[in-house]
Amino acid sequence: MPEIITTIAELRARVGQARVAARQDGSSDAPVGRVVLVPTMGALHEGHLRLVSSARDLGGFVVVSIFVNPLQFGPGEDLDRYPRTLDADVAALEGFADVVFAPTAAEMYPYGASETRVTAGESGTLFEGASRPGHFDGVLTVVSKLFHIVQPDVAVFGQKDAQQVHVIGRMVDDLNLPVSIVAVDTVREEDGLALSSRNRYLGTDDRLAAVTLSRALRAAAEDAAGGVAAALKAAQARIDADPAVKLDYLAIVDPETFRETPPDHHGPALMLIAARVGTTRLIDNQRLAV
Ligand code: PAF
Repeated sequence: MPEIITTIAELRARVGQARVAARQDGSSDAPVGRVVLVPTMGALHEGHLRLVSSARDLGGFVVVSIFVNPLQFGPGEDLDRYPRTLDADVAALEGFADVVFAPTAAEMYPYGASETRVTAGESGTLFEGASRPGHFDGVLTVVSKLFHIVQPDVAVFGQKDAQQVHVIGRMVDDLNLPVSIVAVDTVREEDGLALSSRNRYLGTDDRLAAVTLSRALRAAAEDAAGGVAAALKAAQARIDADPAVKLDYLAIVDPETFRETPPDHHGPALMLIAARVGTTRLIDNQRLAV
């Protein structure tokens, strides 16, 4: 079983010890003393395990953090009902992670919600940021705290949260943080639904409707050769055909800037979708060649 650590002081000591041991041992192929962090909010599924197994493949000492970060939830969002399944999560990480860092909110925010925040700037006000104001400031604040606590050489995130990967990458570049970011492809159910901790909120009918998001993305990918408008039209038609899916946004962005592509754009692009199915809000994305 991975070791469970709940305090920042213990975690720092353990990571320090692992670096020293790796230096003395010298048997690993990984750059000596490499530390890899996989930040999560728990309720782990196959998608998270893919992140952790990619971390393992990078070699070195693997820390998985499990912390439901109150700062990234807005008023009326699902902070209270967000699934907390620590025992099952730790069991699932057997053989993948060296340490699980599972601090309390009081350990992370001893003065209550932190006054000092990392702000995502304009990128954090678009798409997810427009629907969930302050969300990315909450994400960046906790991720930068985790980076300072763990001091990883590499941090691994899921491409399913593409805008999150983008704003974290910008934070690392803008603030010259000494960590490399690795993004791992989305893992999907057989019918295409992207794995998400929030899928467990879906009842039977909602689960059937949820697949419309990935079908819309696939339809867009099939028509992408016809350009931006054709790809949007194909995805929109899928959404319109399913009244159970309430669209929040559908957009095609430049993956480098996360700004909407002009209609005459040709080259790599990323389609983003967010929608509500019943009471559950889902997001997904797909690379396109338009
Ligand atoms: O993607 C998540 O689970 C969270 O946003 C993260 C990166 C762990 C920060 O709380």
